[in-house]
Amino acid sequence: MPPLERPESESSNPDREGPPIREENCYEERERELLQPLKKADTLADGASHRVIEKQGAHQQSDLEGLASSRGQQFASVSRELLDTFEFDSKNELLRPDDYEVYPNFPWVIDAPQCFDDAAHQGLSLEDRAFLRFFFLGEEIEVSAFQRKFGELGERFVSQALDLEVARLTDRRELELQNLFFSSRRTYGGSTVYLVGDLPSHYPTSSGPLEIELEGSSFSLSDAIGCLDPVEGIAVEFGCGGGIQLVNSVLEHPGLLEIHGYDLLARQRNVARFVSYLNARNREELDKIRIHQNQADLLREVGEGTVSLGIVPSFLVVPPPIPLTLRQSSLLAESGFLSVVSDRPCFDFSKYLGVTGWGGEDGLAVTLPLMKQMLPLLRSGGIAMACGDYAFRGDTPLIVEKLEDYKDADSLTWSFEKYEDEAFPYTPDVLVEMTLEEFRLCVPGASGARLRDRIERAIRESLSRNGIDYIHGGVLMIERH
Ligand SMILES: C[S@@+](CC[C@H](N)C(=O)[O-])C[C@H]1O[C@@H](n2cnc3c(N)ncnc32)[C@H](O)[C@@H]1O
Repeated sequence: MPPLERPESESSNPDREGPPIREENCYEERERELLQPLKKADTLADGASHRVIEKQGAHQQSDLEGLASSRGQQFASVSRELLDTFEFDSKNELLRPDDYEVYPNFPWVIDAPQCFDDAAHQGLSLEDRAFLRFFFLGEEIEVSAFQRKFGELGERFVSQALDLEVARLTDRRELELQNLFFSSRRTYGGSTVYLVGDLPSHYPTSSGPLEIELEGSSFSLSDAIGCLDPVEGIAVEFGCGGGIQLVNSVLEHPGLLEIHGYDLLARQRNVARFVSYLNARNREELDKIRIHQNQADLLREVGEGTVSLGIVPSFLVVPPPIPLTLRQSSLLAESGFLSVVSDRPCFDFSKYLGVTGWGGEDGLAVTLPLMKQMLPLLRSGGIAMACGDYAFRGDTPLIVEKLEDYKDADSLTWSFEKYEDEAFPYTPDVLVEMTLEEFRLCVPGASGARLRDRIERAIRESLSRNGIDYIHGGVLMIERH
């Protein structure tokens, strides 16, 4: 990651909010103290904020390496049989609010309690709703329910899930997934895929950092891949996460012979392997999916000018560190979101978002180098795709401007299909509001005009420094002639 920008020091700012600070340089003196763990329950009144902080900062999650092993393969086959028997996919669909015309499966944007009430009216039994809550929301369920509902299959599911550390037993002999959820989705072509991700922070049982991120752009990208004319040959994905695009590509484009992926994080790679086991319909499909430890290993198997479909991950446009008051930094002391910049503790979005989300101030810190590494791999007619929220200057995505110096830019054409979502574009005003909202989630009770001014100044300066007019979501495609 590049070094953080040094934001304007607030020590010269008479408008500083919060209780008066007697010594100008007290931040430096208190830095060690601030970074000591606090008793969160004592300091944070708001339960939701407490959870957000806990998920990001405090715990190291298991890499779930068993999921990529032969035991993981057996567990995938038991899980698939159990989810099929339960008719998880059609029950899951009943939870979708009516106003979702498509089938988006965002477990985290649905109003879960309302959906489960509605599901009751759709004839789902109490027990079925409990199973859905277990898989979908990470809530605990009596162990005996598995035996009751699924017989021997249920017993195997429980013992293998415990063995692989996918689930744990609570004190009351209930089974609870370890910060994971299962979901299902239909691809553009109509196949059902089962997916696994880290439980979003706002669910009660979320207990670890969000690494295996399934999000809106994961689903939009998978639909965009499904819409392509049939693709043949080799596909490559940098940053394959939990494997959604790998399995989507194998199911949607049978002409693909090899689909190579890698991710920086072992937990992601192991889940991607497990998700391949869950969804490949036969040995041939499974063998097409190759998950590598790192990019170098992948590039040893994939030559330049050979790839028909390249998939590059997208990351968020992120504000620079926001200076904190002493009180705010105390509240965040244990969170792992702090950096000290110009002697001031700051809320550091790079730490908050982690490697799965942070894209630097223009959103391209990771995507641009990865795109530059992907382009030489493309064969003639090959396409590199990315999908997410992109910074724009005028009508052109910044990434396209930055590729103008690319060595054989003449052989490339680009298109950007903007989402028709009324939330876009994110203008500077909208970005200020969004950042303020996110900040308040993390810093309980943070409010006031001065905070808003501070965030607004940081964002406007950052946008202007990076030549960004607005941000728009959509699908970027770069094609080699
Ligand atoms: C926004 S997620 C996308 C995951 C997945 N492709 C999807 O569609 O859901 C970005 C992924 O890129 C990974 N990542 C971050 N930096 C990377 C890098 N330099 N090389 C490869 N992967 C990276 C993260 O661990 C994360 O899994």
